[in-house]
Amino acid sequence: MTGIDAKQEWFVRARYGMFIHYGIYSQAGRGEWLINRERFSREQIEALAESFAPDRFDAEAICDLAVAGGMRYVNLTTMHHDGFRLYDTELSDFNAMHYAKRDLVDEFVTAARKRGLKIALYHSLNNWTAQPDGVAALESEDARAEFIEKTYARLRELLTRFNPIDVLWYDGTWPLNGTQWRGKEMNEMARSIQPHILINGRNGVTGDFATPEQHLTAPSPWRPWEACMTLNDHWGYHCGDDQWKSPLDVVKMLAKVAAGKGNLLLNVGPRGDGSVPEQSVTIIREVGKWLARCGECIYDTDKFTWGLMKREGHESDWSNNGPFTRKGRSLYQIVKAWPGEELAVAGLNTPVESVTLLNAAGEQSCDFEYADGKVVVTGLPSEPPDPVCPVMRFDCRGVPAMYLTAGMRVPSVKHAPYDPVPSEMLE
Ligand code: GLC
Repeated sequence: MTGIDAKQEWFVRARYGMFIHYGIYSQAGRGEWLINRERFSREQIEALAESFAPDRFDAEAICDLAVAGGMRYVNLTTMHHDGFRLYDTELSDFNAMHYAKRDLVDEFVTAARKRGLKIALYHSLNNWTAQPDGVAALESEDARAEFIEKTYARLRELLTRFNPIDVLWYDGTWPLNGTQWRGKEMNEMARSIQPHILINGRNGVTGDFATPEQHLTAPSPWRPWEACMTLNDHWGYHCGDDQWKSPLDVVKMLAKVAAGKGNLLLNVGPRGDGSVPEQSVTIIREVGKWLARCGECIYDTDKFTWGLMKREGHESDWSNNGPFTRKGRSLYQIVKAWPGEELAVAGLNTPVESVTLLNAAGEQSCDFEYADGKVVVTGLPSEPPDPVCPVMRFDCRGVPAMYLTAGMRVPSVKHAPYDPVPSEMLE
């Protein structure tokens, strides 16, 4: 996919969405790979489906949380690798309508639409319980043909029933590759039903956007992208996982995707009964309040890097107090480490015309001086003026650009970028 067409525009600006991993596995509380990792028998799988009781799955409340959290889109697992559909389907009894008399995808799509949220539907291509299954598809040509045909039928039905949605989010390419899945044809089929739809690349062809998982690296060269991240260490609910990220951790992730002109798809794993763990609710709400105060540094941002460091994947372009994002002529610093009464930024090649502090008390204009590419802001509070993270906005005369080298001035001759451990030293 080259360039950005009109249908991608909302996605390229969205920045923040909610991923929801929910299924029969949620009851056990050991993550969504449960039946594979623990090699469940047919009887065990059947028992899990029989006891599926999404009594507290409340699509309205989940979408309310997404809105309060400042998220612009939502993505629900309609079917994970275990093959259990959260929607009513004529193609299999292994679904929520059969076992719990609920079509959770329908409830979800209706609730999201009502709130103006964009809708993505996750759908696994891999299927552990299909007959024939993925392993059989590897071992025999006939099984493979049937396996693929059933996958196409599922996708066709899903996209026909939930029409329109905004994103089709494949997952679990295994056991086939893009050629074997006939990935291009799969996408054409999807677009013949929903011409405007965005499609990710997890069927083995490039698709409309990249989906880095559990890291926040923008594709290079840039193309539309979305990093999916867990809020603790699991996608599906795990009863023993208490490794929650803090609201500031989420803000740091948002800053990183905003500078790379990408999106953060942040996961929520409801419990077996469908209720969302309190920790997720609290963290997401807290970040939502921060976004209401400071969200202009995240939403709709432009790409911003300033090239101090060389190494890919390193926390490059570091600055003393926090990362930068940019929108038009405004440069933002997300001040995750508050320096006290004075804050200085050097290497800023564009004159600064005004400085504003975004914080718990609203917006405050600040005293500053700009000379020789350096802005010094004075008269700031000695303590951080925001419970999550204050933000400085530098409104510049032109599009802000920053450049620093590892020397005390920019050399007048061609020079290497900074790299503390060049790769030849790593060998
Ligand atoms: C992986 C995992 C899966 C999870 C997904 C989220 O493909 O198989 O469990 O749903 O990533 O991106």
